[in-house]
Amino acid sequence: MSPQQKVIRGAILDFIDDPALSGDEAWRYIEDGILWIEDGRVKKTGSYEELSAELPESIELHEYSHHLILPGFIDTHIHYPQTEMIAAYGERLLEWLETYTFPVESKFGDEAYGREIASVFLEELLKNGTTTALVFGTVHPESVDAFFTEAQKRRLRMIAGKVMMDRNAPDFICDEAEQSYTDSKALIERWHGVDRLQYAVTPRFAPTSTDRQLELAGKLLKEYPGVYMHTHLAENVEECAWVAELFPQSKHYLDVYDQAGLLSERSVFAHGIHLCDDACERLSETGSAIAHCPTSNLFLGSGLIELERLAEKGVQVGVGTDVGGGTSFSMFQTLADAYKVQAMRNRKLDPFRALYLATLGGARALDLEGCIGNFEPGCEADFICIDLHATPFLKFRTERCRSLFETLFVLNTLGDDRLIDTTWVMGEIAHRRDS
Ligand code: GUN
Ligand code: ZN
Repeated sequence: MSPQQKVIRGAILDFIDDPALSGDEAWRYIEDGILWIEDGRVKKTGSYEELSAELPESIELHEYSHHLILPGFIDTHIHYPQTEMIAAYGERLLEWLETYTFPVESKFGDEAYGREIASVFLEELLKNGTTTALVFGTVHPESVDAFFTEAQKRRLRMIAGKVMMDRNAPDFICDEAEQSYTDSKALIERWHGVDRLQYAVTPRFAPTSTDRQLELAGKLLKEYPGVYMHTHLAENVEECAWVAELFPQSKHYLDVYDQAGLLSERSVFAHGIHLCDDACERLSETGSAIAHCPTSNLFLGSGLIELERLAEKGVQVGVGTDVGGGTSFSMFQTLADAYKVQAMRNRKLDPFRALYLATLGGARALDLEGCIGNFEPGCEADFICIDLHATPFLKFRTERCRSLFETLFVLNTLGDDRLIDTTWVMGEIAHRRDS
């Protein structure tokens, strides 16, 4: 069969490195560019002027004026079962879990219910331009079957796992160490590496796992190289004090996970706000990543992350929405809050670095560079077309921008789902705003 080819024409932006390390060498911008796709993957990018003569005459052409074409957003930490409890009033982390989260999550033993919520969740992600996410299920294996079934239907690259939690939570939401091992193993065998789906061993956080359960999580990672590890770390000061009490033999919070063998290039720790230098160094040495979730950190009053310290220590960082502790599915809204978190600390987050974190930074945090996150030839063609004229006011504001820097900062600050004109998955349209 002859290859399926198509071309997208418009302003194209992507990243080849972290602007915190390489400055302006980290990004590529082509004002009148083309993104040439073959069989769902990037064939090449370049200026229209340069490449138009090479294009086959009959090639499918999609033209976008007043748009910005960007790799699909990557959400490095989110909970699909919490879709229905986003914006729950008045609590900090530990009370919020007891009051709202555990009761909602108890419903996901019903696979049909899980599929209904997973479907709403995935449509919301696509509407917001997010094409890959690292996702918490619940303690029920059915929650993961439901999620992967819906993600597979949409041909999405998604990573998810069953929560492991065997203590310090109500019985109706707990598993038991050996059972959590067996259930996770069966899910890995069923889903890991099927189409674009990958599995993450998912202990909820140290306080809700016994030593035995964490040890078994480590055993799974040894038995299945390539499987991810996904948990929470040092989000809230009360949580940190509780961990110190529960694990007196550990040097610090991260050390609990380290002793169980849970740190690697495929490990992602949500939050990481309250970390000592030793913990930052261990994250860096092991290639583990932090998922920074600013809307959640502000909403739950958890704290202000020291992004520049993580960069100095060489820790991989991605961004996450952390729905439903987080308050938006939108990566733009998330980046707007990431900026405000740094502003509260008298620091800056420039728009290039912010968009890097939401694309290639996320791919690196998930050990998926070369697969997603930018427009290098061979990458999967997951991308978005952002409409600079999405609303009359955005048109008014962006027309007054005098540089790319300024335009990007306006998008990051004012953006939401209305800006996402089209979301493409493997070179096919998966969501169109106006349809
Ligand atoms: N720590 C343990 N569980 C959770 C959760 O569901 N959300 C957040 N934000 N933090 C957690
Ligand atoms: Zn979370």
